[in-house]
Amino acid sequence: MRYVKLAGSSVPAIGQGTWYMGEDPARKAAEVAALQQGIELGLSLIDTAEMYGEGGAEQVVGQAIAGRRDKVFLVSKVYPHNASRRGMAVACERSLARLGTDCIDLYLLHWRGQHPLEETVEAFERLREQGKIKRWGVSNFDVDDLRELHNPDCATNQVLYNPAQRGIEFDLLPWCEKRALPTMAYCPLAQAGRLLQHPLLAEIAERHGATPAQVSLAWVTRHDGVIAIPKAVTPEHVRLNAAAGTLTLTSEDLRAIDRAFPAPTRKQRLAMV
Ligand SMILES: NC(=O)c1ccc[n+]([C@@H]2O[C@H](COP(=O)([O-])OP(=O)(O)OC[C@H]3O[C@@H](n4cnc5c(N)ncnc54)[C@H](OP(=O)(O)O)[C@@H]3O)[C@@H](O)[C@H]2O)c1
Repeated sequence: MRYVKLAGSSVPAIGQGTWYMGEDPARKAAEVAALQQGIELGLSLIDTAEMYGEGGAEQVVGQAIAGRRDKVFLVSKVYPHNASRRGMAVACERSLARLGTDCIDLYLLHWRGQHPLEETVEAFERLREQGKIKRWGVSNFDVDDLRELHNPDCATNQVLYNPAQRGIEFDLLPWCEKRALPTMAYCPLAQAGRLLQHPLLAEIAERHGATPAQVSLAWVTRHDGVIAIPKAVTPEHVRLNAAAGTLTLTSEDLRAIDRAFPAPTRKQRLAMV
């Protein structure tokens, strides 16, 4: 597994997402077990949000990390409508209770909303002073948003990125790389849709004795400062995602992916899901 420097810690380049977890009580035990399996296999960064299952995903994470908190780098996100001075303090308290911890390693603004950025930053800083979060960052910010934020304490930007959705490569990714701002890539498997059926990914996977999903993860994390956060509940998926940490694509593989999924040649509006 390759490691990336994020918010002063060394984290694995592949972590675990949790969107759609905590929505169905019948699936909770499997979700907890999947996260625990991932932690054991080195996928020790867990990404969640107050939005996922309206707190349900944070509860799943809380259960999964109980007794293992020290092994995990925990990322959660605040709703934009809660990103005010008062709102964030209350939202963070609720997240901490659901997560069963007294500190979140990295707390992100989920996307830009109506509260002024200065107020949101002030709220983040207050939580940091109180020891309730270690660092803060943003999500779904484009270059203009990051310029406006203009704050060296921002620890990451979490955005959509996979071989079929490469818009950030035109300007956002180089902008972040130049400033050593790590990027967290969400939907690195394009939500297991058509991308994983693409014959080229299957062909490359076969050459490496891997799977198309593993090729996608190796491709997303080929940049030094990029962390992929695939979500997996199926135990075999968790195993494969951890194993993808040792897969390195050849320059021939990368050129073939460039032909099938061309890099952007002009500015594209930041894609979000
Ligand atoms: N900041 C934001 O606005 C934002 C937006 C979207 C997502 N996110 C974060 O990013 C995470 C990842 O995105 P996502 O969950 O939307 O999509 P994703 O990780 O691209 O795809 C998840 C899907 O892939 C399947 N899968 C996982 N590993 C696999 C493997 N090795 N082979 C085949 N299929 C595999 C999963 O199935 P099983 O569950 O059955 O294993 C699930 O159906 C989220 O969970 C969330 O934490 C953030």
